[in-house]
Amino acid sequence: MRILVTGGTGYIGSHTVIELLNNGYEVTILDNLSNSKELVVDRIEEIAGKRPDFVKGDIRSKEDLLKVFKGQKIDCVINFAGLKAVGESIKMPLEYYDNNIYGAINLLEVMRECECFNFIFSSSATVYGDPASVPVDETFPVGGTTNPYGTTKLFIEQILQDLYKADNRFNIAILRYFNPIGAHPSGLIGEDPNGIPNNLAPYITQVMVGKRDHLNIFGNDYDTKDGTCIRDYIHVCDLARGHVCAIKKLLENPGVVIYNLGTGKGSSVLDILHAFEAAYGKPIPYEFAPRRAGDITANYTKVEKAEREIGFKAQYDIMDMARDQWNWQKKNPNGYSK
Ligand code: NAD
Ligand code: UFG
Repeated sequence: MRILVTGGTGYIGSHTVIELLNNGYEVTILDNLSNSKELVVDRIEEIAGKRPDFVKGDIRSKEDLLKVFKGQKIDCVINFAGLKAVGESIKMPLEYYDNNIYGAINLLEVMRECECFNFIFSSSATVYGDPASVPVDETFPVGGTTNPYGTTKLFIEQILQDLYKADNRFNIAILRYFNPIGAHPSGLIGEDPNGIPNNLAPYITQVMVGKRDHLNIFGNDYDTKDGTCIRDYIHVCDLARGHVCAIKKLLENPGVVIYNLGTGKGSSVLDILHAFEAAYGKPIPYEFAPRRAGDITANYTKVEKAEREIGFKAQYDIMDMARDQWNWQKKNPNGYSK
């Protein structure tokens, strides 16, 4: 079976490609390299012992997509390609709607034309907005997104539901990721953000390698055990495995299925900091700073549905996540740029 992985040289995509190769799937990556490097393909080969096909291309280009679909039979598409920076999306909404929504529509049109009907979509826990309670499960209402990035996920989910109603040849898995962190234990691939990291874990590891002098913790007056926000951090290798579970589900022709992918455990910002300190063996400097606009107090998931229906259960805890992300950052202080 051949899987087209769009955005496959990115953070989650690259880890998923390894998991796919290790499970005997053939893989073609299509990525426009807007937020990743082609070197990732070499690293994937080094880890998996197999090289995925790589096409430099854009999901918004029918020509690029047809090159892939006409050249080989694609059995399933996993669409990681997208822009994902929350703050940037507020400044550049048109670019986000174009890249993420138009890109997804274009990809689905080509899939239909080429008779490939299995689709996995990278959605996000952000579609739950500020949930009325935690843990959240897949029946919780979606909406109330606070930025265009989150809204692209919400709209694409709706488009996928509408598409299936109109054309039930499609089988679609919507995967709502909680907070992916960590890296492959080899330290050969990992998250490589441009500029100042927006997200917690890469910011911490940049403090650890001396690129930033301290972590700012956004808010210590939330209604939580230690005043800092609670999230459900999931090891990126666990998340990657969730995609293999979802492919197997699609082969049963389930229509549209939705799964939250997390560990079911909420950790505070200070819990995460302490996990990285354990990996580091010394304290990491931090200061409390004002709350960040748009942050919610707590979000973590119920895990029963994914466990029951696709056999997915996260294996790693936050200590493993911190160890592996630190290992990646330590070995690659400048990410993929030497
Ligand atoms: P990433 O930026 O590392 O990977 C995305 C990849 O897509 C990059 O390699 C980029 O070059 C490529 N890309 C972007 N636009 C493209 C286009 N038009 N055509 C072809 N390639 C394109 O991001 P990631 O963290 O690996 O996230 C992957 C997906 O998961 C994204 O859709 C993201 O929104 C979603 N997601 C991520 C998180 C997270 O915290 N990382 C959480 C929830 C959902
Ligand atoms: N945080 C800090 N300091 C930092 C960065 C983050 O204190 O320098 C805090 C945030 O305030 C938040 C927690 O760390 O309480 C996690 O923040 P992240 O930015 O790492 O993650 P978010 O939960 O805000 O959002 C992430 C992705 C979204 C995605 C969401 C759910 O950025 O795209 O997870 O999947 F939608």
